[in-house]
Amino acid sequence: MKTLLVTISKGGVGKSMLTCQLARYAHALGLRVLVVDFDDQINASRALERKYTDNDVVATRLGLTATELLLRYNPDDLGPLPDFALVAGDGALVREFVEFARITDPEQNHSHMYMAQANFSSFLGDVANHYDLCLIDSPPAADIRVSISMMEGDAVLSPIQLSQESIEGIAETLQGQRGILRIKASSNPDLQFLGFLPNMVESNPKQREALREIADAVGQFLLRNEDEELQILPRRAAFADAQEKGTSLASLAKTNTAAREA
Ligand SMILES: Nc1ncnc2c1ncn2[C@@H]1O[C@H](COP(=O)(O)OP(=O)(O)OP(=O)(O)O)[C@@H](O)[C@H]1O
Ligand SMILES: [Mg+2]
Repeated sequence: MKTLLVTISKGGVGKSMLTCQLARYAHALGLRVLVVDFDDQINASRALERKYTDNDVVATRLGLTATELLLRYNPDDLGPLPDFALVAGDGALVREFVEFARITDPEQNHSHMYMAQANFSSFLGDVANHYDLCLIDSPPAADIRVSISMMEGDAVLSPIQLSQESIEGIAETLQGQRGILRIKASSNPDLQFLGFLPNMVESNPKQREALREIADAVGQFLLRNEDEELQILPRRAAFADAQEKGTSLASLAKTNTAAREA
């Protein structure tokens, strides 16, 4: 099993869309896919539990939620492990876990975090033979849910928007205290940063200018294909449409010209 974290400490740039569409795509290729929703907004869980046509697959919840997984993991709670599965968000992670980490004394805080990391590590080990791909959706913050995922995961992908404001999020995700480079250096040398993927791209002077600035600052970290070509996702209503309906872009494309183009 490979574990891919989709993260950036900036809201609304397409993390959940990318997680869900990658999950549906990978499952359609025949891979066994598990999605872990570490965001209290529960957007990915909701989108994966919807379906639009009879051909769409609904993700099956495992027997524990994201908070239970990190704070009270017990392998007996997992239940059956279907080929398209979800550790659903429960809206309680910030209250039960992140806030606790902020208010308690550092020692207690550390033991809490180690416990969560140990739980997550055991969980990934327990399900590793049952899945080919584990995708993790994250909140728009670089908090300890994200750090733990980076410490235990294999790879990271970060959607970005081409705007002035997104540059801060890029720096934080890459070089911040809990950034990819820091965690790679300190605790997970094998962690692979696939790159920043510009999403909702529009061909206008503002976005072109932002892309130039981002390329100047972190050009070597932009996602490229095997031919070293820069990868982008354009802004197309079909991405949002697929998410809202609970289907894949490919499935939508069968009957919808705009989705096919997207
Ligand atoms: N390329 C795109 N074109 C058009 N709409 C998009 C595209 N990518 C994402 N969207 C839509 O933009 C909205 C925000 O995307 P999404 O919820 O995936 O962002 P997010 O990074 O997960 O946000 P949050 O930080 O709040 O979790 C959603 O309605 C989504 O469907
Ligand atoms: Mg999201």
